[in-house]
Amino acid sequence: MGTGMLHTHKLSVMLFLVLYLFKLIFLLTNNAKAMAAMQKKGWRIFDMCISTLFLATGIYLLITAPEVKVLQWVKIAMVFISIPIAIIGFRKGNKPLATLSVLLIFGAYGMAEAAKKRSIQPVTVASGATPMETAKAMFEKNCIQCHGADGAMALAGAANLQTSKLSDAEITDILRKGKNRMPKFAGWNDEQLNLIVSYTKSLRK
Ligand code: HEC
Repeated sequence: MGTGMLHTHKLSVMLFLVLYLFKLIFLLTNNAKAMAAMQKKGWRIFDMCISTLFLATGIYLLITAPEVKVLQWVKIAMVFISIPIAIIGFRKGNKPLATLSVLLIFGAYGMAEAAKKRSIQPVTVASGATPMETAKAMFEKNCIQCHGADGAMALAGAANLQTSKLSDAEITDILRKGKNRMPKFAGWNDEQLNLIVSYTKSLRK
């Protein structure tokens, strides 16, 4: 469910960005013919559908998110500010306002991309800590909000780590690149990745 929502959200955002970019280009180049065509019922319904889909899936993802980061709040604020500006800008043919609304939407998209480059929460452990103790601390700081301390929580569509059958290489790959709503942990070196992989596997039942 969460995965389908994420893909639908991304797709509707893309369509929305393309549609509004074209609308803006037509407005700025005084292309009256294209602008009139965009006012036809078919395009208006398409516009309404993707806007609704984009907002509805966005709200769903927001309420089911394990945590919302500052950059994501900025993104959400930009989207909501852009809506009335876009309505006024495009209805009245006001070029500065229409441009501002499209810039805000593209800015919001940039924020979303930036928020994805999630920074890893560092851990401090006692000097005598064993590798497994260090790994546990890393897991508690970075993973339990979705997977739970025992790996079985499965928030935001997270996989159950107790029943996971992935190989070390597959886990490392997911950690490096992220997968759907799982963020990537690209900042860890091989040694740190190996540690967290062993810890993750130690949760298996
Ligand atoms: C924001 C929530 C979130 C955080 C934080 C998170 N994960 Fe995940 N994780 C997920 C989701 C969602 C999936 C399922 C991805 C998919 O297959 O679509 C997943 C999948 C996985 C899988 C694959 C399991 C399988 O069998 O498919 C592993 C392994 C994993 N996570 C380990 C970790 C580790 C280790 C950390 C911390 C370093 C972590 N995750 C942090 C959400 C999260």
